[in-house]
Order: sequence, then structure tokens, then C-alpha cells
Amino acid sequence: MAEPRHQPVLVQPVVELLRPAKSGVVVDATVGLGGHAEAILQAFPEVRVLGLDVDPQALAYAAQRLAPFHPRVELVHASYASLGQLLQERGIEPSGVLFDLGVSSLQLDLPERGFSFRLEGPLDMRFSQEGPTLAEILSATSEAELTSWLSTYGEERKARPIARAILRALHQGQLRTTSDLRRAVWSVTGPRRGRVDPATRTFQALRIVTNRELSALSPALEAAARSLRPAGRLLVLAYHSLEDRIAKNTLRRLSGHCVCPPGTFPCTCHPQQLLVVLTKKPLLPEAEEVRQNPRARSAKLRAAEKKP
Ligand SMILES: C[S@@+](CC[C@H](N)C(=O)[O-])C[C@H]1O[C@@H](n2cnc3c(N)ncnc32)[C@H](O)[C@@H]1O
Repeated sequence: MAEPRHQPVLVQPVVELLRPAKSGVVVDATVGLGGHAEAILQAFPEVRVLGLDVDPQALAYAAQRLAPFHPRVELVHASYASLGQLLQERGIEPSGVLFDLGVSSLQLDLPERGFSFRLEGPLDMRFSQEGPTLAEILSATSEAELTSWLSTYGEERKARPIARAILRALHQGQLRTTSDLRRAVWSVTGPRRGRVDPATRTFQALRIVTNRELSALSPALEAAARSLRPAGRLLVLAYHSLEDRIAKNTLRRLSGHCVCPPGTFPCTCHPQQLLVVLTKKPLLPEAEEVRQNPRARSAKLRAAEKKP
């Protein structure tokens, strides 16, 4: 099995923020191809890593990459949605938990996974390779629902005409591949002119919908925060504003601040005194890292520490 490359993002800041966790168990809630896990295992010879991922293909590569660290690694095919239960069952109080959200290079670079508009592939987009594919979801949706997905999860201003173009292509039997999907978007926006392809927002929105990505995040961060040992650290790497907003608000709420919309009275968000936020502003990659790894372009790293 040839090893796909995945350059972990902001790896040095991640390792530094986990330095106080230098013994015990660090949970990598999205182990992917094991890039961050490898750096953590190398930096802290006493740490054990429990790595989770929903993608069996990613786990197979991670197992290969992390084999030299056996028996300090355990990989589990599970969603971070089950993190709290999983740690409780194993009696683990981690010293650190890392969430590196979004899509890995493996998923983007294999056309058959259907995540990329640069490579022609089926309309799949499932991290877990289980459940309905994007093609199945699109064939069961309405124009109003698709418009709302593109607008909410893609922050796409031309959501309605793009939704209409996608469904028109679908009903004409011309929406079979990722290239067809990009063509449908381009029929509204025109082709790529600047740095960012106009199909990016549509692909992001449909990936979020296919994997129900956002709904599990805040409860998983809260479960991670509860499970941490005192002074344990929680790190979140986000790649778009929606997931970063969830990370920011969840860490704020778990450090005792109300995050209800302005004017809400009484407070309904139930702030908790569990964490101290370590990053008032998120850490961003240096220009050199972005040059070497364009995937790092939109990364934001936030961290918090468990109160004693
Ligand atoms: C950006 S990649 C992680 C890359 C990893 N940090 C590395 O250095 O190789 C994100 C990973 O999260 C996984 N993922 C997505 N949703 C998940 C979930 N609910 N639970 C666990 N893993 C998930 C994806 O399958 C993907 O492999």
C-alpha cells in the first residue's frame, strides 16, 4: 500500500500546546493519515495516542504510518460523536484531545471518493463510506432545501440559481460526476477567474450535508472537555468559518461565558466553568507553511485548558 502524503497543519504549535500533556493519553479525535499523531508520539516518548476516524481507508494508512510506535497507539473506527462514551468505557482521562476537522489529502486526492472538483469522480463525499452518497441525497432533495444548504453551509450568495442549475442537470441525467457538479455551478458563476474556484463553496456545503458534519461538533467538544484530566488540553483546528465559529463559541461557553445571541434573556446556553481559553485569537499558519501546504491556507487553531 503506497503511502499517501498528508502534511499535518500547524504541527509545531499543536505539539507545543500539548507539551504539558507529555504523559498519559492524547486522543486524536480525527486521526486521518496520522500526521499529527506521529508528531505527538515522536515529541513525547511517554504519551500514548488513541486515534479515532470514521474513514476505514484513512485508518488503514494511519495504522501503517504509526506502526513503529506500537504499543503506544490504539486506532478505533469510530466517530468523535461517541468520544465521551468511548473514553468512559475505557476509563481514560486524557491529558490532551485534538480535533483536526475537515477533509484529508487522501480523501481529496482519490477521485473515487468524490470530494474534489479537480479530479473527476462519482458524487460520493462520504467520510465513513457508509450511508447515503451525495448523489442519493441530491436526488431526494428539493430546490428550497438545496438552496438553504448552499446558503447556510457554503455561505454562497448565488445559492438559489446554483441549486436550480444542479437540479436541472440532475433531472436531465447530466449530473453523474464531480466535474458535472462543477459545470452546473459554473453555468451560473462562470469559470474560475481568481485564486478560488467558484465551485468551492458548493462542494463545502454538500460535504457538510453528506456527513452531517456540524451537528456533532459542539457536543463532541463538550464531551472531550468533560473527559480531560485537570490541566489537560483541548485543541481544535478548523478550516472554514462555520466550524471555527462552533469551536470558538463552544470553548467560550465552556469557560463560563454566555454565547446566546445578543438580546436573549434569560440566558439559554448554559455556560460551564470547565475550561480556560488559551488562545484569545486563533493561531494561524505562517506564510511559508501556506506556500508549502496550500491546505493550511484557511486553518485556525484554538486551544483551552481544563480547570483543576
Ligand atoms: C483533516 S483530516 C485529519 C488529518 C490528520 N490530523 C493527519 O495529520 O493526518 C480529518 C479527518 O477527520 C475524519 N473525520 C471526519 N468526521 C469525523 C468524525 N465525526 N469522527 C472522526 N473522524 C472524522 C476524516 O475522515 C478525516 O480523516
